[in-house]
Amino acid sequence: MTIRSINSQARTLPEIANLPNVDAKDQIIPAGDKRNLFNAGNQMWHTDSSFKRVPALASLLSGREVPPEGGETQYASMRVAYERLPADLKTFLENKVAIHSFEYSRGLVGDELLTPEHAAQVPPVPQALVRANPANRRKAYYVASHACEIVGMPTGEARALIRDLLERATRPELVYTHRWQPGDLVMWDNRCTLHRGRPWDENKYRRVMHRTTVAGEGPTAPDVPDATVTRAAEIDIAWGRGQLTPVELAG
Ligand SMILES: [Fe+2]
Repeated sequence: MTIRSINSQARTLPEIANLPNVDAKDQIIPAGDKRNLFNAGNQMWHTDSSFKRVPALASLLSGREVPPEGGETQYASMRVAYERLPADLKTFLENKVAIHSFEYSRGLVGDELLTPEHAAQVPPVPQALVRANPANRRKAYYVASHACEIVGMPTGEARALIRDLLERATRPELVYTHRWQPGDLVMWDNRCTLHRGRPWDENKYRRVMHRTTVAGEGPTAPDVPDATVTRAAEIDIAWGRGQLTPVELAG
């Protein structure tokens, strides 16, 4: 298992990432704080660690302290969405490779959220756009908030296609909303599942989640040595921020 969280704190086991809105002194982190803006990025539909060369296979999320309202986690299946695609679009996606970038997705949330040092640690990576489950061969497409280019396609067209795929998968009738009870544990397959966190009143309620991530077996696509990411255009930023709730919440 590999674990990584910018919010990791020493009080939990090293294998478990702590995703709290309380700091090391047990105080609620104020709304607008950079740490919360980072977490706000999780309100965009994504699949865990798709910005890494070897993305996560599975995630296990445990609700330790959960707010009485808000703070749900929503799930959607890219396997169901793939199966519903028209045949010509399935054919078009086959063997395509997308580029995923953490710097790009966090750039949709706010300017300069990543230090140059952090950005250098997470360079853009290629991921197969269609993945088959090796056990049952069922296919899913594989996109996320981090997906920002498709190799061989103009950037604007690629991003329109990525948005279309995300929207197809996350139509309200296809989304499961998990309302957390303390002690709940949810596990999911990141190869074919999108998820996102929902906002809650961060000034009022604590929310402490523990996450364990199971690493995938290997890269999903061959190297793309010259992968470049075009800066987010206004339409991209508007679309990304459209998924976020304003940080300012009524106290
Ligand atoms: Fe996540």
